[in-house]
Amino acid sequence: MEIVVLPDAQSIGALAADAIGRLLQRKPDAVLGLATGSSPLAIYDELARRRAEGAISFARASGFTLDEYVGLPVDHPQSYRNVIDKDFVSRVDFAPDAVHAPDGLAQDIPAACAAYESAIAAAGGVDLQILGIGTDGHIGFNEPGSSLASRTRIKTLAPQTRIDNARFFEGNLGAVPTHCLTQGLATIMSARHVVLVATGSGKAEAVHQLVEGAVSALWPATILQHHPHTTVLLDPAAAGRLQLADYYRETYRAKPAWQHI
Ligand code: F6R
Repeated sequence: MEIVVLPDAQSIGALAADAIGRLLQRKPDAVLGLATGSSPLAIYDELARRRAEGAISFARASGFTLDEYVGLPVDHPQSYRNVIDKDFVSRVDFAPDAVHAPDGLAQDIPAACAAYESAIAAAGGVDLQILGIGTDGHIGFNEPGSSLASRTRIKTLAPQTRIDNARFFEGNLGAVPTHCLTQGLATIMSARHVVLVATGSGKAEAVHQLVEGAVSALWPATILQHHPHTTVLLDPAAAGRLQLADYYRETYRAKPAWQHI
């Protein structure tokens, strides 16, 4: 796991966009794993800016989102399908239908989850997965207690996650769905490169556990300690509780630029 502490969200967005740009140069039909929420916004802003300049193209790429609320109407502004379309997909040049999301309105939820796993496999697997992390250590919506071997399935959102996400529902906790479909931890672990972004002091404890805690279902993101290629991009506040922060900073500083993520 590589830990990179950068001055702010904009620098994080630029470094992640560099990695995605290099991937698309090497493999124009790359498969991207897309997170919603606040954490990846600086990455999506930077990618949209580079697209507008003609510096990058997603025309042959495809994408899979991590998760979706269960039961939100198709036109609900907070359905993750609509959020990712607004925040990223509509701002770049993906082909129509190239970005997929779990179906939170499926009648047969286990079948929809199995179909999502099959679609990811049929696309050749995810080349680069963008992740945020919850204050409770979730990735995707794999809440504490999730099986470390889980695949796409329905989950009950933890009370803390519903409280955290109420800000997207005008502060109305009752409007936040109670269930979601999410890629499992094993699904996320199958991605070839994982880029996890965290900013702000509210994420500092989850980041400390992710990087330095014992691997445990209590902090689901810790499974990434077993991933062969995970890059963790942090601002100083999110890095605030790392015991070995100085060592991570020095290690990254000493790397030649061509080795940067
Ligand atoms: C979103 C997702 C979640 C978020 C996490 C952090 O698709 O899977 O794991 O990444 O809840 O959310 P933000 O970035 O809004 O703090």
